[in-house]
Amino acid sequence: MSISKKKAEVRIKALREELAYHNHRYYVMNDPSISDFEYDILMNELITLEKQFPVLISSDSPTQKVGSDLQTESKAKEFVQEKHKYPMLSLGNTYNLEELFSFDEKIRRIIDEKITYCCELKFDGTAICLTYENGALVRALTRGDGIVGDDVTANVKTIDGIPDRIPSSAPASFEIRGEIYMPYKAFDRLNAEKEEDEEPPFANPRNAAAGSLKQLDPRIVKERGLNCVLYHILGESLPFKEHSEALMNAKEWGFPVSEHSKLCGSIEEVIEYIKYWDTERKFLPFATDGIVIKVNDLAQQRKLGFTAKSPRWATAYKFKPEEALTKLLSIDYQVGRTGAVTPVANLEPVQLSGTVVKRATLHNQDQMELLDIRINDYVYVEKGGEIIPKITRVELSKRLEGAPKPVFPKFCPDCGSPLVKDGDEAKFYCLNSDNCPTQIKGRFIHFISRKAMNIIAGDATIDILYEKGYIRELSDIYKLSKSMLLTLDGWKDRMAERFLESVEESKKAPFANVLYALGIRHIGETTAKMLASHFHSMDALAAASKEELTAIDEVGDALAESITGYFSDQRHIALLGELKNFGLRFEEDEEASKRISNALEGKTIVISGNFSISREAVKQLIASHGGKNTGSVSGSTSYLLAGEKPGPEKIKKAEKFGIQIITEKELQKIIDS
Ligand code: IVH
Repeated sequence: MSISKKKAEVRIKALREELAYHNHRYYVMNDPSISDFEYDILMNELITLEKQFPVLISSDSPTQKVGSDLQTESKAKEFVQEKHKYPMLSLGNTYNLEELFSFDEKIRRIIDEKITYCCELKFDGTAICLTYENGALVRALTRGDGIVGDDVTANVKTIDGIPDRIPSSAPASFEIRGEIYMPYKAFDRLNAEKEEDEEPPFANPRNAAAGSLKQLDPRIVKERGLNCVLYHILGESLPFKEHSEALMNAKEWGFPVSEHSKLCGSIEEVIEYIKYWDTERKFLPFATDGIVIKVNDLAQQRKLGFTAKSPRWATAYKFKPEEALTKLLSIDYQVGRTGAVTPVANLEPVQLSGTVVKRATLHNQDQMELLDIRINDYVYVEKGGEIIPKITRVELSKRLEGAPKPVFPKFCPDCGSPLVKDGDEAKFYCLNSDNCPTQIKGRFIHFISRKAMNIIAGDATIDILYEKGYIRELSDIYKLSKSMLLTLDGWKDRMAERFLESVEESKKAPFANVLYALGIRHIGETTAKMLASHFHSMDALAAASKEELTAIDEVGDALAESITGYFSDQRHIALLGELKNFGLRFEEDEEASKRISNALEGKTIVISGNFSISREAVKQLIASHGGKNTGSVSGSTSYLLAGEKPGPEKIKKAEKFGIQIITEKELQKIIDS
């Protein structure tokens, strides 16, 4: 299609702006608003136009540089930024198998020898670059803008499987690159927690991995269950001739390397590999978004070289996101514990990525309008890793005449109170928090949950206790007696006693759990922990002004307003008074406040032998400086702390893994430094 230079100039400008916006949402906010597929369509349009009008190419075009995950100037810089020794480039990509033949042809025009391709899964995570020097992990950088990356070493050291130390047989200095990803299991768990906290869930495991890696507190990173796979070694005069040989060596040195790579002698074989994984990948426990095809011979790679943005010796074939077409039967409007009303679609059951989908979220009224959805419409559902799939578009050609337009309720479907929009949020809320049964029950379900007060009871018990009129205010849980419980259908002595024991036990829950259990808007589990370690007590938090709160890095306006609003309500003050009298912890427990420094943050230390102080005291010393004590030596151990007469097995294992063996004195030195 031909287009005038003037028109091309206008379109190129618009595309660059649009791509810059989506790059920011994807790499910095970890919250993309379009799919990778849609992004790639825009990018391809820009590439085609720039090819047609090369004079319009500029070095700041998104076609010429990799997307940046660096924080912009407007935000306080939270990580130290370091220059990459070798730029961290991206990969060319295609959704079209035919284009792989032209990739192969282009290579053959330059290389007149036998070519072997190494095919690998394209892990859908966030890129990482690890530097090892003299057997130790010294630095971990994100891709950043490809030239400079964020130093996330402390966070990376908490990820299982990334060795802190490697054997002396490895080169003295090299970089190894790969992907940090979040397996589906950890992703589902994290989003379930977010859902429970009524926080926006991560759209997919990639965003969850990237967002988790950029957490400021390594303890939180550790809990997120991230994994890593490494696929590219760089350095001066490395002893390999082939990429596959480098991967094999990396595996021997204890690095996590994929088991699914395959050498292919022709592009036809590459296509077979792609076809196999197109279906097989659905059974993997982590997300993949394509296949990476690399020329295996390193001398050939050097000859092929790089463009400004990507290597000529590799490309990616990307899988189209999976979707299914099904019928929208009805819409439920669900009230959450904070009063937020979410429209949820009931669908004709349909098979998608190995599971049967019956429900999909419609998020809010704006989204329903945007989709212009009607009852009985045929809709496309996409999973993208979420627990509840989403509806991405309507198949208008299948719309029946007169299909009714759903009407978002004006009143709470549960208690009938008028629904109100809160500020510029897209959600509608039922403000009748004191009397709306779903909200009251929701608050109790949250209060007793495992990460809150951890009281052994299910949703059904809360339902019955509510129906009986036994629970209205959260403190009512602590007023329940055995005789009251025995009035519940089917409850016997032992059941009532166990429930009451669990209620009693809950009084020992740490302050952060209590704070989380209150269900204050925007205080999820992570925020509760952060606030607890910052303020140490409920009184100090209650006394904090909005300014004091927003002065904390992680606290924005919405959270600060939610906190000051909560503590300025006299009913909440009365509730807190009652909970305190029942013995709930309103101050940070000693263990957490005993932390003296973070000198051993992210370090895993195994102890062996006798010390000048008791072994218990050594363990406490490690914990009080943020370190972790584990029982056995593995590739991810940071130090073996050896006292007098250490166990020979542990010493042998530490030597095998190249783990530093330190004395009590040396540990003290590390702490002091
Ligand atoms: S090789 C010089 N291999 O995909 C480029 N990348 O979209 C070296 N990725 O930037 C990259 N799995 O973050 C390579 N097996 C794999 C990969 C992989 C995922 C990521 C990587 C890359 C991005 C390009």
